[in-house]
Amino acid sequence: MEFDPKTPVYLTSDPKSFGHKSVNDRWPVILTGAIDDLHRTVADVTDEEKRKEGKTIIEELAKLKYELQHDRQLIPLEDDGEPDIEEYNEELEQRGNPKWHSVSWLFSECYLYRRLATLFTRSKHWKGYDVFARQKMSTFKSSRPAVLELAARYKELAIEAKEGKNTEESDRLLFSEMCEICLWGNATDLSLLTNLTYEDIQKLQGSEARKAAENNILVNDLNAAFDVLRQAREENKPERRVDIVLDNAGFELFVDLILAGYLLSSGLATSVVLRPKLIPWFVSDVIPRDFADLIQAIADPQGFYTAPDESGNKQSPLSGKEVDEVKFLFDQWSHFHAEGKLIIRPHRFWTAGGSYWRMPHVAPDLFEDLKEAELVLFKGDLNYRKLVNDADWDPTTPFTTAIGPLGPHSGIRVMSFRTCKADCVVGLPAGKDEELRKVYEGSATGGREWAWSGKWAVISFCDGKV
Ligand code: F6P
Ligand code: MG
Repeated sequence: MEFDPKTPVYLTSDPKSFGHKSVNDRWPVILTGAIDDLHRTVADVTDEEKRKEGKTIIEELAKLKYELQHDRQLIPLEDDGEPDIEEYNEELEQRGNPKWHSVSWLFSECYLYRRLATLFTRSKHWKGYDVFARQKMSTFKSSRPAVLELAARYKELAIEAKEGKNTEESDRLLFSEMCEICLWGNATDLSLLTNLTYEDIQKLQGSEARKAAENNILVNDLNAAFDVLRQAREENKPERRVDIVLDNAGFELFVDLILAGYLLSSGLATSVVLRPKLIPWFVSDVIPRDFADLIQAIADPQGFYTAPDESGNKQSPLSGKEVDEVKFLFDQWSHFHAEGKLIIRPHRFWTAGGSYWRMPHVAPDLFEDLKEAELVLFKGDLNYRKLVNDADWDPTTPFTTAIGPLGPHSGIRVMSFRTCKADCVVGLPAGKDEELRKVYEGSATGGREWAWSGKWAVISFCDGKV
């Protein structure tokens, strides 16, 4: 905690904050979902020992939910052999062994998922089991129309790019389009949108929704990021790496790969490093296995999209053209991966309990590695919260200030694509927060509710190489 800024952080006890709603309403629902998932899996297990152990984990999950709902203390994590357990437990002590309903929102939310992971890593038969995997894949399946639409658009653009008629202006526009696809892909994360229907998901993902949402990007630094990448390409720098600190699996990972493929084929990057988590995290975050699941689906789109769902309903088959367009993506991504241009590199730091203000001290290897990239793109809401320490900054505070040690002169170029799903926000023009708050005037919480909805977004950039 010694490396954190002094600005106060959001607390689960603050009735105006989304943290309060999270601990009271959202986390119990998420834990219930985890229990249901494991119940379903255990029901099919024939190995008696494994079945018994599965039931014990269910009991542990129920215990965790009870503690949370009854405002008990956050108990020390049990050792699962990973070094971060000690860090978590030390921080618990430094925080005075807090209770669920009056603790730092960010730390307690990380603790929740870290504790969940220990239940599986400490087991004999359930190591690596992901209680959210089922949900991640079925949501990706619901994204069929958007996946097909994007695959078609991508192929069209790849052909245009090959013809080489692009000007600087058209390149810039294309870069914006790709980035906006990637930005809004974050709007459908599973931890927030627990009650989405098939139709809701589809409405959020299409190109029309993106067009309509353009005015909702409150800060847009895409031009500055494009200039940096274009200049590196013009200078013919031999190594032009872009890192993507990933957020969610399924559709969001699909659009991240679309962006990665575009950066590589346009020469704006010579390699892309994708950075997933190592344990199931905030419901939908990417772990290495999610790559395999996505690639398998894309390799056989017909099989994936027409397999009957859980109620036995079959979907209509894909046309030959649609299959070709999806396979075009699969071929391109496999090719880039085989050539070593598309790299997957997890790190345990991404699931630590603290913010990225601590990175230079607690993960110096990662900090040095990120400096090697031309640009580091942080995806989604949680990454943004961690960049700004989930603190209650004045909303006009410059992004470059709020990210502290990752800011100017850090050697890292930071870009954040964030659809707003939490209270903290920085870099806004004076008066904007007040204007947006008016929309929710008279609401029960009187908080910054506009920023929880996922309808607004910020694209923030800081050139830490100067
Ligand atoms: O629990 C709230 C939260 O941390 C929010 O920040 C957001 O709603 C969600 O979880 C994670 O969002 P994302 O997947 O965009 O990081
Ligand atoms: Mg997420």
